Amino acid sequence: MPRSQALIGGEWVTTQATIEVEAPARGEAIARIARCQAEEVDAAVQAAGQAFSGQLGSWASWNARRRSEWLLAFAAAIEADHERLSALECADTGKPMTQARGDITACARYFRFYGGAADKLHGETIPFENDFAVMTLREPYGICAQIIPWNYPAQIFGRCVAAALAAGNTIVLKPAEDACLSVLRLAELALEQGLPPGVLNVVPGLGREAGAALAAHPGIDHLSFTGSPETGTLVTQAAAMHHVPVTMELGGKSPQILFGDADLGAALPFVVRGIIQNAGQTCSAGSRLLVQRDIAKEVLERLAERFETLLCDAGEADADCGPLINARQKAKLESRLEAARADGIRTLARGRLAEGAPSGGHFVVPQVLNDIPEGHEVLREELFGPVLAVQLFDDEAEALALANGTDFGLCAGIWTRDGGRQLRMAKGVRSGQVFVNNYGAAGGIELPFGGVGRSGYGREKGFEGLKSYTRIKTVAIRHG
Ligand code: NAI
Ligand code: MG
Repeated sequence: MPRSQALIGGEWVTTQATIEVEAPARGEAIARIARCQAEEVDAAVQAAGQAFSGQLGSWASWNARRRSEWLLAFAAAIEADHERLSALECADTGKPMTQARGDITACARYFRFYGGAADKLHGETIPFENDFAVMTLREPYGICAQIIPWNYPAQIFGRCVAAALAAGNTIVLKPAEDACLSVLRLAELALEQGLPPGVLNVVPGLGREAGAALAAHPGIDHLSFTGSPETGTLVTQAAAMHHVPVTMELGGKSPQILFGDADLGAALPFVVRGIIQNAGQTCSAGSRLLVQRDIAKEVLERLAERFETLLCDAGEADADCGPLINARQKAKLESRLEAARADGIRTLARGRLAEGAPSGGHFVVPQVLNDIPEGHEVLREELFGPVLAVQLFDDEAEALALANGTDFGLCAGIWTRDGGRQLRMAKGVRSGQVFVNNYGAAGGIELPFGGVGRSGYGREKGFEGLKSYTRIKTVAIRHG
């Protein structure tokens, strides 16, 4: 059974109140989690500080090689627990079982990647005056606060925790109240695997309580946040009061751009997967499809055909698409879709709910919206559901203008066989990642990831992500 406690200083701590956790496929309670308040968050920050300074446990004495070995062993422990973790992720988030399994595999890979990198991270020497030796030390920040969302709990745990630990930090992690059972199991595994007390603290709770207390805590040294731009602003403001550096990963409205010469057979499966994966609740979802007008008829026909075959069902049924995370997200999406219809936007095609799908689930079927007036909300705002918005263009310049026509800039997919155009578009698109003739690159643990504009700033994943959990100290030695 998942723990309904917080992990503070290596101990599982019971909180006064708990929060009921529901399975989104049925709308039924499946567990309870701790509801931490400022008091528990403070205790967790104290514990992380003591672990970092060496007052608690042995972490401060671990060198890079030892951290590397631990991270690699932990990756193996995750792999050994794969089925159990996948089942938790599937039940808790509602995502199809195959996707849940892929998430756990990705989580383990983060620990392998950063385990392999931990002892290869180093500073530099710098030529300066002749009587000086100058070097940079790449140091951990200290206590990293991590506030993560519910859409990919295990993956984002891997992304943030593996990198921060590899660099030598300690952590206070606030998982999302809507889905964190896999995170609690991962934390339990980390303790079993011998992670010293206080190195990883987990404080489940509500955003406005535990999350806000963590962001505002004067004791943290770094903060990474993944979630909505609005909450990102609040968190950044709170952290700024103590000049705490932040990494913000805030979602997107990413375009998939199909030029007339694209290999449609290769592109269309990626276009579909890019929006239905995790029921569209993915920061890097390809939620806009930009199609060159001369192939629009064929593309829309083939897309409609495919969407009409898509099935929604509970995660365990492993259909194309699971439910949304909760009733609030479903109601928000449905009211936006209603407003879109009232504005004359047409639903080109839609999937359906599987017969026998549980009642009470927060299902919204995948759908394609077409004939959308320029500048409409469905082209600008993150809908966070399996809804693809189509836009047509005539030439490269227009494609680029449309691609860059939102405040977001996280990912882009460019589909063309023309090499020059691939490069011009890749350079011109305003986003943190660009995929040419592919999209998403299977998670891309090795690939730096992050946004521009309203999608946020700072980079996670890859070696770049590891560096962002360190800071540089310059040491200038005058040796005469
Ligand atoms: P949210 O941004 O409010 O929640 C993300 C995390 O922040 C959760 O752990 C939450 O507990 C915490 N949080 C909430 N309020 C906080 C506060 N005042 N101080 C500190 N932490 C706080 O996102 P929410 O409400 O769950 O979803 C709303 C929208 O956000 C979605 O429709 C989607 O557009 C976007 N979103 C984007 C994600 C991404 O991957 N970029 C992930 C989740 C949501
Ligand atoms: Mg849940």
